[in-house]
Amino acid sequence: MSIEARDTKTDTMAPVTIVHASSGAKAEVHPFGATVVSFIPQGDRGEVLFVSKLAKRDGSKAIRGGIPLAFPQFGQPDKSMPQHGFLRNNLWTVGKSYDEGDEASCCEFHLTLADAVNGRGGIWDAQSTELDCSMTLLVKVQATKLSTVLIVNNTGEKRFDCQALFHTYYKIPGGQALNKDACSVKGLGGYSVKDQITSDTYIVESNNVEIFVDREVDRIYTPPGDKPHLQLSLKSAPGVMTEISSMALVNGVTCPVSVVIWNPHEAKSKTMGDFDDEEYHDMICVEPGMLSNVPAILPCQIAVFEQIISVL
Ligand code: BG6
Repeated sequence: MSIEARDTKTDTMAPVTIVHASSGAKAEVHPFGATVVSFIPQGDRGEVLFVSKLAKRDGSKAIRGGIPLAFPQFGQPDKSMPQHGFLRNNLWTVGKSYDEGDEASCCEFHLTLADAVNGRGGIWDAQSTELDCSMTLLVKVQATKLSTVLIVNNTGEKRFDCQALFHTYYKIPGGQALNKDACSVKGLGGYSVKDQITSDTYIVESNNVEIFVDREVDRIYTPPGDKPHLQLSLKSAPGVMTEISSMALVNGVTCPVSVVIWNPHEAKSKTMGDFDDEEYHDMICVEPGMLSNVPAILPCQIAVFEQIISVL
């Protein structure tokens, strides 16, 4: 294993590279937002994640791509707080790095209220300070897997409600995101869908239903009661598959994991300053989230939320 991290006091925006030495797999994490910006597994698969060529990496804005973290809200139900919360807009501290035998190489990142208040940059607004909590992101690299584990620790005396989401951007090589033979998502049979563009609601008939990008896609898929763990597959080129799984525990109890599928398509891409007009051909977001029926995190308790990306 090797971890290349520079002194965070003098060069706080330097990305951290986590290398799994025995396989050569590696990930890069930007301390701003603890955003994983690259995952290159063993073999010739190449880059798995998409980052826009116009993404800001100087801390002026959340990084457009990779795996930004949303917490304590998804979207902006509470207008006094930033869209998708404040984790992606704060500078995190690089924590310890270690190996799990030959299996995995890991690095931790931390964010506390004090970090934000002491001027490490970013947003932790008045509303958010009522959340007395600290966050750890564990990033684990294996030969063909990338796992991210977000741990939210309620360090205060009050319970609080929250949502959390891994806003994962996948790279679709060759600009094929709108090609149905090249890019699709499968495995969401029984999930109820809320289409955020048309407001339609329906149930996905079976696990064989393939979800394509045929227009602007912005849908929330909520699991049936008997399926708390998320398990789906993404095709990112003919024959090139990625398995995505996710699970969550709040106060030690399993919490259902939903998933958001997003592609801005042509018109919305043109409205985004940090996303090139044509880049909707190059990506799809598949975003596991603790979005509904999330119990309040009790004092001295934690929420543990994991996403595992496995390339086949
Ligand atoms: C998705 C939402 O998760 O994120 C979309 O469902 C939103 O509605 C998209 O447009 C991007 O959000 P942002 O804040 O990164 O531009």
